[in-house]
Amino acid sequence: MAKPDLMERVVNLCKRRGLVFPSSEIYGGFRSTWDYGPLGVLLKRNVKDAWWRTMVQLRDDVVGLDTAILMHPRVWEASGHVQAFTDPLVDCRNCKERFRADHLPESGACPNCGAKGSFTEARQFHLMFKTNVGPVEDEGSVAYLRPETAQGIFVNFLNVQTTTRKKPPFGIAQIGKAFRNEITPGNFIFRTREFEVMEMEYFVPPEDGAKWYEYWCQERLRWFVDLGIPEDELRLRPHDAEELSHYSAGTSDVEYLYPWGWGELEGIANRTDYDLTRHAEYSGQDLSYYDQEADRRYVPHVIEPALGADRCMLAFLLAAYHEEEVRGEKRTLLRLDPRLAPITIAVLPLSRNERLNPVANEVADLLRPRFMIDVDDAGSIGRRYRRQDEVGTPLCVTVDFDTLDDRAVTVRDRDSMTQERVAIDKLVDHVQEQLPT
Ligand code: GAP
Repeated sequence: MAKPDLMERVVNLCKRRGLVFPSSEIYGGFRSTWDYGPLGVLLKRNVKDAWWRTMVQLRDDVVGLDTAILMHPRVWEASGHVQAFTDPLVDCRNCKERFRADHLPESGACPNCGAKGSFTEARQFHLMFKTNVGPVEDEGSVAYLRPETAQGIFVNFLNVQTTTRKKPPFGIAQIGKAFRNEITPGNFIFRTREFEVMEMEYFVPPEDGAKWYEYWCQERLRWFVDLGIPEDELRLRPHDAEELSHYSAGTSDVEYLYPWGWGELEGIANRTDYDLTRHAEYSGQDLSYYDQEADRRYVPHVIEPALGADRCMLAFLLAAYHEEEVRGEKRTLLRLDPRLAPITIAVLPLSRNERLNPVANEVADLLRPRFMIDVDDAGSIGRRYRRQDEVGTPLCVTVDFDTLDDRAVTVRDRDSMTQERVAIDKLVDHVQEQLPT
């Protein structure tokens, strides 16, 4: 399928099936903001859970944290954001559209109206949203909506380190909302002004920074492949010197082949001791670590993998979207990894029938505490299979009239469409065997 078509089809599917809606839609939408519907919220939650499981639960060297969105304004001075978190902006004198100077095509033509040589000089545009805390709107009440969750982790480094007694190398992970007044949001949920980010700050002895940077680049790439993104649609791209953020000694992006070309999916940065040193300076607190065994004190260096949950969900959707022909009819399916699929099992009584309903309810009650399920009894069984395929449900369990006699159900696999008869008594075990952990 041509890639531009793919994007349009995924966006349509998200709207049609209640994954993502334009925000404030009854008022005409609001500037590239999006709301997650009943299936979208499940998918995004699964993306975040998969990340948390890999980054926190399955490791003994990473702990979690959840810090406030509003922080002391000095945090953003110390972090360098007040001074340096800007994008260069140009205006087209012809059509008045605004663009990021670093995102313009090489031809120099305006991407909107095609005019050449029409851009103004680049101006720096600040990306942090400012607000006021309390009843008085003056300079003393200024606060910012956080543009990343990382700073909440740095300012809690001592709290976490002393309460958990972790020794470097160890990490602190956080998932939360971030806000950036992007000049050019767009491409659906790829770039928005409000988004969720999943970040982990990994604190290491200074001499080990390069080693752990390499380790996390490979680990993060592997995570996407494990969850179903084809290897040839992913690559690691190191930033060149001009591209590096103000805090970074080295950054690589995990890039995905989006319908519009290669683009950033996740960033992995070697932030050195920049953040802890700056917060120590601005707060007056000693943020160094004393290594008792080696009898030395140092400021840990930090390796940071940072990934947008929304952007990541988009990549999983794009990679999972397939259309195929089955017996002369088009079948649309999301080949989502079962760990990500919004619904894990659909329970489908063959028809609306008084005799089938109690058994279908019994099967649903058996599965519901363990899996996210959907019970659907509307329409032909073929149409219901298609509806589940389209939102990526890996398994459908059909309750038919034979079930009343043999106490068995038909389990149908989304990808192969093969069907198996399974005893209700063995259903939970059977399903558990089919699903990856
Ligand atoms: N603390 C490091 C940091 O914030 P970043 O590369 O600016 O790094 C991390 O952001 C990730 O967050 C990106 O790789 C991307 O997945 C996601 N992201 C950044 N800006 C975004 C936006 N405006 N909308 C959606 N996701 C965004």
